[in-house]
Amino acid sequence: VKHFVRHRAAHKVASPLAFAFDIDGVLIRGDNALPPAKRALSIIDGNNEFGVKIPYILLTNGGGVSESTRCHELGQQLGVKIDPEQYIQAHTVLKSVVHQYADLPVLVLGGNGDTLRKVAQGYGFKQVYNTLDVLAWNPSVWPFHSLTTEERTSVKITDFSNVCIAAIFVFHDPRDWALDIQVMCDVIESGGIIGSPYIPHHTRKSVDLIFCNPDLVWKSDFARPRMGQGSFKEAFQAVFKSLTGAPHPYTQYGKPTRATYKFAEHMLRNRFLGNSFSGSSVYMVGDNPESDIAGANTAGWKSILVRTGVYEPRQGPPRHRPTHEVEDVEQAVRWALEQAF
Ligand code: G3P
Ligand code: MG
Repeated sequence: VKHFVRHRAAHKVASPLAFAFDIDGVLIRGDNALPPAKRALSIIDGNNEFGVKIPYILLTNGGGVSESTRCHELGQQLGVKIDPEQYIQAHTVLKSVVHQYADLPVLVLGGNGDTLRKVAQGYGFKQVYNTLDVLAWNPSVWPFHSLTTEERTSVKITDFSNVCIAAIFVFHDPRDWALDIQVMCDVIESGGIIGSPYIPHHTRKSVDLIFCNPDLVWKSDFARPRMGQGSFKEAFQAVFKSLTGAPHPYTQYGKPTRATYKFAEHMLRNRFLGNSFSGSSVYMVGDNPESDIAGANTAGWKSILVRTGVYEPRQGPPRHRPTHEVEDVEQAVRWALEQAF
């Protein structure tokens, strides 16, 4: 150790490792930072026996607001400064595909009113609609949701009989599943124009469907995991198949997909590790074997599973075996430093 510290001091050796931290169930639960999280972030900020600052990114299937807004919120919760250049959320990866839809009408689901519209516009989508806009246009689209005064202030007044939706993007976890599933079915079954006559599958214009988070469940501050966007996707596909005979084809982003981990590797390489990047030097710390551990293992990263989130040992071994299993993120960081130095 002393040799490394002298060598590093003399030659400014880059850190031999980097972390990718999941958020929900690892660093926070609901609005509350987990105590081991603050200790772990302090250790990698240089408060370790090697005196080395360890680079890290945050890699979450969460979202719903802009990256800068979430980084500010997380910084407040965790007591550190988090830069948007080290933060990837469920829909960040859409920045790499927006060029295909920039000038086309798209339906964006999964957030509060205008907030997500502004996030999508910030990525470069120019014609962004949501299901509340549709309800404002024609309340009979879904008679069981009356727009609140606040919702009414956030809608974009539109005549959807003149709009042909090209794609549906589920950015984050939908709030009104029934309204959203109804509008998704209307858009897809009519080839994009809500309320126009049903067009049989083999003759209608196909509407692209993109989900950004496959998590069936996630760990909030409730005792048991909560349903995530993956459960919404199952609900939509079950209804659509019952109505039309088959589920609708879709594109999936978010952990554990290769697209999201490649996007993360690009960020790690550009910001921290340069050409010395090697997947094996990245330690992913997560609570969900189906997303965090599966994605890291496929990417050739090291994976550390913690017991503070979705994974519960009493339910038996994880389907995706991690490199190592520990109680919490502080133990994960300490173990990784021991491996790397
Ligand atoms: O909606 C967020 C949830 O699905 C998972 O978040 O941070 O555990 O990837 P995270
Ligand atoms: Mg998690």
